[in-house]
Amino acid sequence: MKTIPAHGIEHAKVLASLKDFGIEDANYRDSRIWSLVYYLGEEHTSFLKKAYGLYFSENALNPMAFKSLKRMETEIVQMTSELLHGDDQVVGTMTSGGTETCLLPVVTYRERASAMRNLPFKPEMIVPRSIHVSWDKASKYFGVKMVQAPLDDKYRVDVAAVERLINRNTILLVASAPCYPFGVVDPIPALGEVALRHKLPLHVDSCLGGFLLPFVERLGNSVTPFDFRVPGVTSIGADLHKYGFSAKGASVLLYRSMDYLQHQFFVSIDSPTGVFASPAMLGTRPGGAIAAAWAALNAIGLNGYLDITRTIMDTTTRLMKGIEAIEGLTILGCPSMSVFAYASRDKNLDIYALGDQLEERGWLVDRIQHPAGLHCMVTPRHADVVDSYLKDLREAADIVRRDPGLASKGNAAMYGMVANVPMRGLVKSQVTKMMMELYGSECRMPAPASDVQHASRLSRYLLPIGMKILNWWNSRKNRVT
Ligand SMILES: Cc1ncc(COP(=O)(O)O)c(C=O)c1O
Repeated sequence: MKTIPAHGIEHAKVLASLKDFGIEDANYRDSRIWSLVYYLGEEHTSFLKKAYGLYFSENALNPMAFKSLKRMETEIVQMTSELLHGDDQVVGTMTSGGTETCLLPVVTYRERASAMRNLPFKPEMIVPRSIHVSWDKASKYFGVKMVQAPLDDKYRVDVAAVERLINRNTILLVASAPCYPFGVVDPIPALGEVALRHKLPLHVDSCLGGFLLPFVERLGNSVTPFDFRVPGVTSIGADLHKYGFSAKGASVLLYRSMDYLQHQFFVSIDSPTGVFASPAMLGTRPGGAIAAAWAALNAIGLNGYLDITRTIMDTTTRLMKGIEAIEGLTILGCPSMSVFAYASRDKNLDIYALGDQLEERGWLVDRIQHPAGLHCMVTPRHADVVDSYLKDLREAADIVRRDPGLASKGNAAMYGMVANVPMRGLVKSQVTKMMMELYGSECRMPAPASDVQHASRLSRYLLPIGMKILNWWNSRKNRVT
């Protein structure tokens, strides 16, 4: 058991230890990963660190005490609103990141519905099947049932299905611009019409695309309208710490007017500490994250974002073309920007086994399920690694085709099993067991340094039980047919 040292350790030694801990971490500086980090290089990073450091101790919990932070937050909200074609009625707050930006609208619209209808009911929100998992979390946290609408054959939400799912308990419609798994923008103009017809709010989760799609459009590409230009859209979330290239801990949540935002505020007047008013979910709000976000927007500027977007989109096109040129592989749907998934059309080319082979070559690979695929989130730095990724992918495809048994080994078996095992409750309880080990008092192991380790830890829990269930299920199916 680790304890706080009795006597403080020299700064240099402490910092050396911290550096050491990271040795096995995912290598984002060499662009070997396709998620988690939006990196523009060391020069930009050290600039952000300086900006962050200037407001390291300041706390946006009290905007009167730190007017500087309130000023920056207001300017960030205005700059984001302008980018997303909001008018002067649009208002908003900064949050700690995408998840908070997705959690908050659920509370806001629940409070609004309850204020407007003033009657007991079981609130529901309708979301695309492809929605980010933070909406599921919001459902669990705030008791708003999440009703999932199916996707069409291009992985966009089926608007007619959304309309059919609306009932008297519906308080909110949600769409993505774009969704994380397939990088596809939902048909937001049509959803806006549905929302207006049924007098429902429509939130657009543009955490991923809010700071990229506007520039993709400015470069002359066709982008499904998704912002405040679309009638019916009442709020939009956009993450600064993704394609805004800010420091982690920064996102923006905008509402069409104060009619909506007012329901997000938390005000308490009876606490022993007196009146307490808070605009978003956190109490203490790190000033550094706000300062770094302000710094990123101002230092990069519209032209800088355009240049970055050009590089990202060229890189994405090269990658997608290269992947489609490999026999058996196909891009899923028509991705709208720089995030996409690819799958296998060839039963002898197991996509998860392909993922394992890429990992053996030092790539950190993200998988998706339903359908099974591998995932890429492209940043400007990936421009330098497209050729080596494609070379490794071609080699990996040859190896997997020659040895189809790889599909039932290693992480491929685990991911295949997790996606297909029929008893979902059992899978969930095994994953919960793994979490209890990771966060339990008995945990002596270092936290997983990468998804690879995370996956092998998962395999330990899931593979034995999953294989048993799958065999039983298959034998049962064979008996029936
Ligand atoms: C569409 C979308 N919404 C929300 C989130 C959650 O963001 P965060 O990881 O910053 O909490 C993500 C993360 O990738 C996302 O892609």
